Amino acid sequence: MKRSLSYSIAALLLVLISCDYKPRNQGRVLYEKECQSCHMENGQGLGKLIPPVAKSDYVVNHREGIACLIRNGIEGEMMVNGQLYTGKMAGNSQLTEIEINNLVHYILVDLNDQKDPYQISEVRAQLERCKQ
Ligand code: HEC
Repeated sequence: MKRSLSYSIAALLLVLISCDYKPRNQGRVLYEKECQSCHMENGQGLGKLIPPVAKSDYVVNHREGIACLIRNGIEGEMMVNGQLYTGKMAGNSQLTEIEINNLVHYILVDLNDQKDPYQISEVRAQLERCKQ
């Protein structure tokens, strides 16, 4: 009885560890490939042209819209950390739900210190709402 309990705990820990690390690593790789050219290496953005995605009040306040923003892009005026941006970001229709989930995870947890990353179900529901 005791042994099977410790096996379950070990299995649970394994699941937790793999959930914790995989999205983060994959998210970083995707970020470097798809986003870094504009948002820069550490997500700091580029002056008045490209808003930061690290320590960004926009990200923290719009967490329920980030998956759709990545999928569909965004343009027009937006305020990020008190700075007005009026640029245009293209959508990424080639990215899968899982890739978007990993990217959002990286942005929320690593770049914005959020403790509660997305679940894949949340990404799926969000993308369903903004399907174009
Ligand atoms: C070609 C340049 C470019 C690329 C590549 C790009 N973005 Fe953006 N991104 C922008 C611009 C410009 C804005 C601001 C748009 C506006 O002013 O409406 C923006 C806005 C954002 C925002 C909301 C504002 C903020 O900074 O908090 C997020 C989040 C974001 N981008 C994430 C990403 C992610 C994730 C990727 C990679 C999948 C990516 N971007 C790729 C140019 C880019």
